[in-house]
Amino acid sequence: MATIVVGVTGGVAAFKAPIVVRECQRAGHDVYVAATRASLDFVGRSTWEGITSRPVAVDIAGEGRAEHVELARVADLIIVVPATAHSLARLAAGFADDMVSLTVLASDAPVVVAPAMHSNMWLAPATQANVKTLRERGVHVIDPASGALGSGDSGVGRLPEPEEIARVALELLDSHNQSLQALAGRTVVVTAGGTREPIDPVRFLGNQSSGRQGLAIASAAARAGASVRVIAANIESALLEALPTGVQVTRVGSALQMREALIDQVADADALVMTAAVADFRPEATSESKMKKDPSTEDAPTIRLVRNPDILAEVAHGDQRPPLVVGFAAETGTDEEILAYGADKAARKGADFICLNRVGESVGFGDVPNDIRLLDASGHIAGRYVGSKDEVAAGLVGHMASFLDNLKR
Ligand code: CTP
Repeated sequence: MATIVVGVTGGVAAFKAPIVVRECQRAGHDVYVAATRASLDFVGRSTWEGITSRPVAVDIAGEGRAEHVELARVADLIIVVPATAHSLARLAAGFADDMVSLTVLASDAPVVVAPAMHSNMWLAPATQANVKTLRERGVHVIDPASGALGSGDSGVGRLPEPEEIARVALELLDSHNQSLQALAGRTVVVTAGGTREPIDPVRFLGNQSSGRQGLAIASAAARAGASVRVIAANIESALLEALPTGVQVTRVGSALQMREALIDQVADADALVMTAAVADFRPEATSESKMKKDPSTEDAPTIRLVRNPDILAEVAHGDQRPPLVVGFAAETGTDEEILAYGADKAARKGADFICLNRVGESVGFGDVPNDIRLLDASGHIAGRYVGSKDEVAAGLVGHMASFLDNLKR
C-alpha cells in the first residue's frame, strides 16, 4: 500500500478528481487530498472529507507544526488533477504558496499532472513551455484529450477519463517502486558528453553532445542503488554538480583521455553505458602554440586526421569487459535507415545493447525529448523509451537491472 496525494486545482474538471481518488483507494492505496482554495468552489471540503475520511489540506499555515511539508514527506506519488494553465505555470516556476504547488515542490515522489483547460490556453506558447519544463524535470504530464470543453467549444484540452489518469499514475508508481534499489550492489560506469580533439591550445574538433542523457542515466542508476562513476567529457559544471551525491566524476577532454580513464575504472564494474559522443578522428598532431594565419597567402592549412580507437568496441571485446555493455548510436535518416545503422553497430561493436537515438530537428541533442530504441546484439528491438531524458533513463536502467539479474551470478 502506498500513500498517494491527490492535488486538486481550480478548474471545472475538478468534478472528475473524486473518481481518481476512488480508483487509487480501490487499488488499496491510502489517499490524501490537497486542494487549492479556488478548487473548493468546484468540489467542496465536505466531498473530500467524505471520500477520504480525513481533513482536506488547504491551508499552508498549520498550527505551528511542520505540517505544510508533511504531505510532501509521506507521499509516494502525487497526482495533480485537474491542473489548470495557471497551476502548470506555478508548478513550473516553483511556487509554494498553496498546498498543491508546495507539496509538489517539497516532495521527491513521482508526480503525475493531468492538465485540463481551453484549447487556446493549452496551445499557448507559455503553457507549452511550462509543460516542457515540467517534463524535463521528470514530471509525467498526461496530454489532455480532445472533445467538448467546459466553455462550450470543442478541441484539445479535455481532462482524460479519470480511470485512465489513475491507471497511468499507478503504473508509474509501480515502475518507480521497481526501480528503487534495482541496482543495489552494482557498479555502473557511464561515459557522457562529447570529446574535444585539440588542434592547438585554443582550438578543437568537437561535437554538440550536452551530456544530459548520460547524466540522466547516471542519476537514475544512482537512484536505483548503484555505485556510479561518470567519465565526463566537456560537460557544463552546473550539470555535473546536480548529480546525486556519491556519484564519482572523472573529467576528461579528448577520446584518448576518455579511453585511459575508462580502462582504469571499468575492470570491476557490472555495467558500462557509453553515451559519450566520441570523436572518430583526431588531428594527427597538436600544435603546441596557437596556429597563425600566414598573411602572405590565401591558402588554408590542411589538418591531417587520424583514427581514434573505438573505445566501446575495445572494451566490449577486451578482457576487462563488464557483464553488461550498452552503447549509443545517434543517427539521422528515415526509420528504416536508422534501424539498419543501429543493427550494424550492435553487431560490430560487441555491446549487449545499442540505444538507437534519432537525432534531428525535434529529438536528440540538447534539451529536447528523446526517442530511444534498444537494439540487442542481433539488432532486434528489445525496448523503446520515449520522453524526457529522465524518463528514457529510468526505462533503460530498469532494463539494465533485469538483464543483470538474469545473468548467472
Ligand atoms: N564510440 C567509441 N569510440 C569511438 C566512437 C564511438 O566508444 N571512437 C562509441 C560511442 O560512445 C557510442 C558508440 O560507440 O556508444 C557508437 O558511436 P557512433 O559514433 O555512433 O559510432 P561509430 O562507430 O563512430 O559510427 P559512425 O560511422 O556512425 O560514426
